[in-house]
Amino acid sequence: MSIPIRKPLCLLPTPLHRLDGVSDDLGMDVWIKRDDLTGFGFGGNKGRKLEYLIPDVLASGADTVITCGSIQSNFIRQLGAACAMVGVACVAVVMDKPYEFELPVENGLRAESGNRLLGDILGIQWEVLPNGTWDTLFDALADRATALRAEGKVVYEIPVGGSTALGAYGFLQAAIEIREAAFDAVVFASSSGSTHSGLAYGLHGTSTRVLGIACDPEPEIAEEFAALGQALAELVPLPIRLQPSDYSVDFRFVGAGYGIPSEAGQAALEYLAQREGIFLDPIYSAKAFAGLLEMARNGEIGGKVCFWHTGGTPAIFAQADAGHAR
Ligand SMILES: Cc1ncc(COP(=O)(O)O)c(C=O)c1O
Repeated sequence: MSIPIRKPLCLLPTPLHRLDGVSDDLGMDVWIKRDDLTGFGFGGNKGRKLEYLIPDVLASGADTVITCGSIQSNFIRQLGAACAMVGVACVAVVMDKPYEFELPVENGLRAESGNRLLGDILGIQWEVLPNGTWDTLFDALADRATALRAEGKVVYEIPVGGSTALGAYGFLQAAIEIREAAFDAVVFASSSGSTHSGLAYGLHGTSTRVLGIACDPEPEIAEEFAALGQALAELVPLPIRLQPSDYSVDFRFVGAGYGIPSEAGQAALEYLAQREGIFLDPIYSAKAFAGLLEMARNGEIGGKVCFWHTGGTPAIFAQADAGHAR
């Protein structure tokens, strides 16, 4: 596989600016990278991945893209926008609540609004399954892809969150936008891994620590990120190979589980909205910002720090409809 020519979807570079109020409160220099403002498909980190995934879809001759995830997936929303733009059908096999260990009683997000509503506007073809494990979801995706091929469709499968080597390449490029700023650390929400592996390679060899805040409780994700990063390194190619131990994945801020807003995240969301007029999302970026606040307060980070805002704000409305937002 080679790297396709970028399809411009996002307004890049996204803004990078100082958070004066937060910096005053924490006694350090806090900046924010505004990938909530990509200007594409309601914003968020997935647009960068799609700039390389979509040309690959088109080069493959596919007429149908299929992916899977939660109903409130930010990736599916942006994928739906990109597919609609290039005239390719977008099929999404989803669950309200995919889980790994135990099914949380409380979802916290409503299934019909937020990203789901935007996906309807974009013409996404949903296949909604009852809640179950990630493996059940992956099996259902494979079955649906087989059925579509049997109907004569030319199908391109994209894994959860667009986390392929091409998706990670989008974030390798993104890292260039902050390399010169010489941050002591960059903090962001980490889940399917292409944001993390792209930034890890893109900032390798600089003094910037790459600190992912996990939004899923699965401890093996550092291995998965390393494998994804190695696929990226082979694709480019890059001379280095990062190991699982090179990935800093912090599980302290996941809360009750994937897809469930946390108390600390809600407090962080309200704080940033009121202090700086910037909204986070309850599932990813609010947990990451809660991590930044906690690490700043207990001295784990200091100096000049960048919070990478990965977007996801439509989920706020799904949360409000479920009666959970104040
Ligand atoms: C808003 C938001 N932030 C962060 C992430 C994590 O990005 P990645 O899947 O590349 O780890 C996601 C992806 O699910 C997301 O939707």
